[in-house]
Amino acid sequence: MLKLPEKNSNLSKQLWKKMSAFMSADIAMDLGTANTLVYVKGEGVVLNEPSVVALDAETGELLAVGHAAKQMYGKTSRAVRCVRPIKDGVIADFGVTTEMIRYMLRVVRNRWSLVRPRAVIGVPSDITQVEKRAVLDAALSSGVRQVYLVEESMAAAVGSGLPIEQPIGSMVVDIGGGTTEIAILSLGGTMYTHAIRVAGDEMDEAIQRYVKQRCGLEISIFEAERIKITIGSLLHHSPPLTMKTFGRDVSTGMPRSMELNNEVIRPAFQEPLCAIVGAIYTALENISPEVAQDILANGVHLAGGGALIRGLSEKLTEKTGIRFICDSDPLTCVVRGVGRVIENLDSLKNICIAA
Ligand SMILES: Nc1ncnc2c1ncn2[C@@H]1O[C@H](COP(=O)(O)OP(=O)(O)OP(=O)(O)O)[C@@H](O)[C@H]1O
Ligand SMILES: [Mg+2]
Repeated sequence: MLKLPEKNSNLSKQLWKKMSAFMSADIAMDLGTANTLVYVKGEGVVLNEPSVVALDAETGELLAVGHAAKQMYGKTSRAVRCVRPIKDGVIADFGVTTEMIRYMLRVVRNRWSLVRPRAVIGVPSDITQVEKRAVLDAALSSGVRQVYLVEESMAAAVGSGLPIEQPIGSMVVDIGGGTTEIAILSLGGTMYTHAIRVAGDEMDEAIQRYVKQRCGLEISIFEAERIKITIGSLLHHSPPLTMKTFGRDVSTGMPRSMELNNEVIRPAFQEPLCAIVGAIYTALENISPEVAQDILANGVHLAGGGALIRGLSEKLTEKTGIRFICDSDPLTCVVRGVGRVIENLDSLKNICIAA
């Protein structure tokens, strides 16, 4: 007799769960320094935009988000303020990040949703309690009802389909815009994790400095990124790649364009690359002989947009003697990983970190 209400409540709980799943579109998010990607349960990746926001400088009203805001960067009048609210993988401007998430949720929830969604969000492994609180608060105040956090390197491993649940050591290096995360994983947990705040953005800044010093041309940070993507190469014997770049002549102050090639800008990668290689050496020095065997056999998986630099996997293989394999779509590894967690929340809840 006593069991009946429990059975009923279990039944109603299950019914409620099914109804919520039907009525709300649970989401997963890779809130990155350079790009924010959103995955909707049952649908896949539905949004992929630069983490840039344009605001009315006086009222703070949101004017544009993502690609539209990135196009305005550096070209705004005094009435418009362009902000990159995420820095080094964590929230640097809480108010603007909340506005950005709220806007993105509005875009992706353009469907019949009566119940506020749950969200799985990727965060850097070295996130502090205060930074974690900021992510949670930003998501909750954007209309999310429950938040689960997953370390980005774990998400990248899940997204890449590595055997993280098995007694096999897997190593992932996620080179994003603001952070490079290195993790060694086994049996659904992290054995080693380390993040350095050197990644794609540092390479852009290095190219910007280098072009100014070497060529006397002042270029914008997004032009430096364009150079990196178009002709950046770590390969010593790569075929010549050239492009035209634009900026302001340092001595005359006049606009000037010039031809650049990959050989000229290659030294700019030296410093950020050294920091990334150093962090990888430290990680490799920390592994047990058993895991070393697995990593030697299976290689190291590269994720994040920074992994797309030409010749990076070859360079890392040459430096360490271990095979580095770039994911087929490194820019979406993390969001595919958090997406898999939201799709299988009951079985993968154990890999979420305490929120
Ligand atoms: N084809 C490419 N070649 C080189 N670099 C690239 C390429 N495509 C994107 N990138 C770089 O990848 C970085 C963005 O990668 P990603 O989207 O993984 O970062 P993020 O997740 O936003 O940042 P983080 O994880 O550090 O918070 C940028 O620095 C971008 O310039
Ligand atoms: Mg990332």
